[in-house]
Amino acid sequence: LVVDKANYRHFMAKEIHEQPEVVGHTLARYVDMATEQVAMPVTLPFDFKDIQRVSITACGTASYAGFIAKYWFERFARVPVEVDVASEFRYREAPLRKGDLAIFISQSGETADTLAALRYAKSQGLHTLSVVNVPTSTIARESEVVLPTLAGPEIGVASTKAFTCQLMVLAALAVAAGKARGELSAEDEGRLVHGLVEVPRLMAAALGTEPQIEKLARDIAKRQDVLYLGRGTSYPLALEGALKLKEISYIHAEGYAAGELKHGPIALIDENMPVVVIAPFDRVFEKTVSNMQEVAARGGNIILMTDAKGAAEATIESTVTIILPDMAAAFTPMIYAIPVQLLAYHTAVVMGTDVDQPRNLAKSVTVE
Ligand code: G6P
Repeated sequence: LVVDKANYRHFMAKEIHEQPEVVGHTLARYVDMATEQVAMPVTLPFDFKDIQRVSITACGTASYAGFIAKYWFERFARVPVEVDVASEFRYREAPLRKGDLAIFISQSGETADTLAALRYAKSQGLHTLSVVNVPTSTIARESEVVLPTLAGPEIGVASTKAFTCQLMVLAALAVAAGKARGELSAEDEGRLVHGLVEVPRLMAAALGTEPQIEKLARDIAKRQDVLYLGRGTSYPLALEGALKLKEISYIHAEGYAAGELKHGPIALIDENMPVVVIAPFDRVFEKTVSNMQEVAARGGNIILMTDAKGAAEATIESTVTIILPDMAAAFTPMIYAIPVQLLAYHTAVVMGTDVDQPRNLAKSVTVE
């Protein structure tokens, strides 16, 4: 199989732009588009009603997909979820309950730490389910159930389309869990699934922010540090935004839960510090706005990623406002991932780094 860059300068740019399509393919595998109900492509070998706790394990970007999924599983299915990075999970000898569910997320399906964590969970008698992009991989082969992402080959070392496809699979699985556990009515399910069906179109609309982000990247490229803030599912996305920026542009970045700002990172804020605030107009929007006020009062440069409603309600002059489409609050990370990825990409292009092959990084880490 030969994969080329089509008309793009880098694989990463191509992969960012492919997302509406590949996330759409993934959606069609997990949702019955005619009835707008969840439909897992395989029969799950357990009943979600019997699961007392879910453990999610992964590395890097995949671990942030898992962290976002925790919010979905807990909200839709009322099941407690623990998320771990695989290198910690495998040595911690965490107490696990036989018959519970362990989920592993991996683009390559070959990450050594994730594989070792899978083997540990199996040895403890857990059901093992993996969300993988390479169906022939070791993690896929050794898992009891495989839920594939249909991202297609991902060449850029920094993961983009695999991440949003992982989110799509996990969102559908969380809705299926909520349904099986009797926590979601048919109406709730319909509303959530409709929200998922809308995602590819909204992602395409989010790509429209690119010219504005390209301009913004010229400023970010001059900075030393960037802070990313978010609450709820926007918090793990803030972590992902910071990871993306540092891995390809080599600019130091940190992601933080917006509410933790005052417990440390606020000390860093001055007029040289750009702060990317990921804040769709959701239940925690007002709280995030008050954190923004704390930044603004100290001269920080705010880059606000929100929707039209959020932009109208935010009472602070933000340096730059990036407007994303209006949408149901539950699935915003899949849409907001786009400007976050584009910002890292265009900043790296301005910096002149090797975007697809950043220094010191490997696409698949098969050693400890
Ligand atoms: C490497 C890649 C990351 C990826 C991580 C996990 O560090 O550079 O982009 O998120 O591995 O890889 P996996 O294949 O398990 O998703």
